[in-house]
Amino acid sequence: MPDSGFIIKTRYLTNLQEAIMGKLIWTADLDTGIDVIDKQHRRIVDYINQLHDARTSGHKQEDIGKVIDELVDYTMSHFAFEESMQEEANYPFLKAHKKVHELFTKRVGSYQERFRLGEDVSEELNNLLVTWLFNHIKRDDADYVESVKQNLEQHDFITKKKGFFSRLFG
Ligand SMILES: [Fe+2]
Ligand SMILES: [Fe+2]
Repeated sequence: MPDSGFIIKTRYLTNLQEAIMGKLIWTADLDTGIDVIDKQHRRIVDYINQLHDARTSGHKQEDIGKVIDELVDYTMSHFAFEESMQEEANYPFLKAHKKVHELFTKRVGSYQERFRLGEDVSEELNNLLVTWLFNHIKRDDADYVESVKQNLEQHDFITKKKGFFSRLFG
């Protein structure tokens, strides 16, 4: 007879626990509700899963390095995109958010460098990415959603209004 406690525990594993044991699973609590941002976050998660695969299926260090570089590049461009959206929306905590991105970039950069120099830090980096990213999405990113959404809706409204007037008087 299986231990029912175990079944319950495995059923209620958080995405973080899943990630440390295996692949990351996207759960609804990670959605911000801003489509373009959610797509980017999901893509970062895909990259993290690729890194997990590369590490656990005996890929060459060179290939693992390539996945790390792509993941870091994509994450950096996501940060830049996110910051520009916040800027446009006049998000009051842009400066603090930028700082958090900056510190994380430095941290990841030093892992990247150690990996390049031959240190086997890919598992450590993998775990850092998972814990940091999920916490950041749920806490820091969730905080700007309201401002950015409002700004996007306003933009959409003005564009539609312009379209309406040009149809009327054009
Ligand atoms: Fe962010
Ligand atoms: Fe983000």
